[in-house]
Amino acid sequence: MARITAGVAASHVPAIGAAMDRDQVGTDYWKPLFDGFAWTRDWITQERPDVVILVYNDHASEFSLDLIPTFTIGCAETFAPADEGFGPRPVPVVEGHPELAWHLVQSLILDEFDITIANKLDVDHGLTVPLSLMFGAPAAWPVRVVPVAVNVVQYPPPTGNRCWLLGEAIRRAVLSFGEDLNVQVWGTGGMSHQLQGPRAGLINTPFDTAFLDRLVADPQALRRIPHLEYLREAGSEGIEMVMWLIMRGALGADVEELHRHYHVPASNTAVGHIVLRPPV
Ligand code: DHB
Ligand code: FE
Repeated sequence: MARITAGVAASHVPAIGAAMDRDQVGTDYWKPLFDGFAWTRDWITQERPDVVILVYNDHASEFSLDLIPTFTIGCAETFAPADEGFGPRPVPVVEGHPELAWHLVQSLILDEFDITIANKLDVDHGLTVPLSLMFGAPAAWPVRVVPVAVNVVQYPPPTGNRCWLLGEAIRRAVLSFGEDLNVQVWGTGGMSHQLQGPRAGLINTPFDTAFLDRLVADPQALRRIPHLEYLREAGSEGIEMVMWLIMRGALGADVEELHRHYHVPASNTAVGHIVLRPPV
């Protein structure tokens, strides 16, 4: 049987990918950020997940205002790094897991989540930067990936509660997959940041810290945070944090916090990272 062995959350700031691709990891600016991921890199080498269900958002790279699905699952054999304007990142092609992806699609749709099926999906920094943070710069990614893309770019994004419920449905789907797989669920994006308008550069460390605390101690409260509270407290792009609730909803009731890192700033963004172990 497939099982969910861990949940991982991390911001996906494009400048982090650029710093890695340009050998700037050891600079005064970047070192404190990357140091906070060293623990996870060791840990994940020992954990050896077979598949990551990677919840992220596309930033108008694959989708555009022409087509805006709320929840999409990537069912392809491979996913190419997207060209975000400066050419694709020099990172490996992402290998999918079509059998698990199609099982997720079937299970979720019959579970009344109307998922969009993507048989071609170029993946942008939302997906590749977390892979780089966790695995460094290998010749091939050491894990297969089922991308779950969430619309948090064009209003209205899904509610936090809907994301939580999708996480619970993903858990049911994984646990009903017959193959013996070690599956992790990742949530990406956040934390507080605003890239536009008069409040550009907004960072709210007390809000971010409370969010991290409540992921462990009081996740039910996070389900009820309304969009306006994210907008006011975490900035216009802070809404990406609803994707962390898909990861958290997939883990079950009580989790153990294995590792946490919080760093300000990376570009204009507060970077958060947490590793959670679900009950066995
Ligand atoms: C930036 C872009 C993002 O998608 C994000 O989540 C954080 C920061 C940026 O362009 O700096
Ligand atoms: Fe983003």
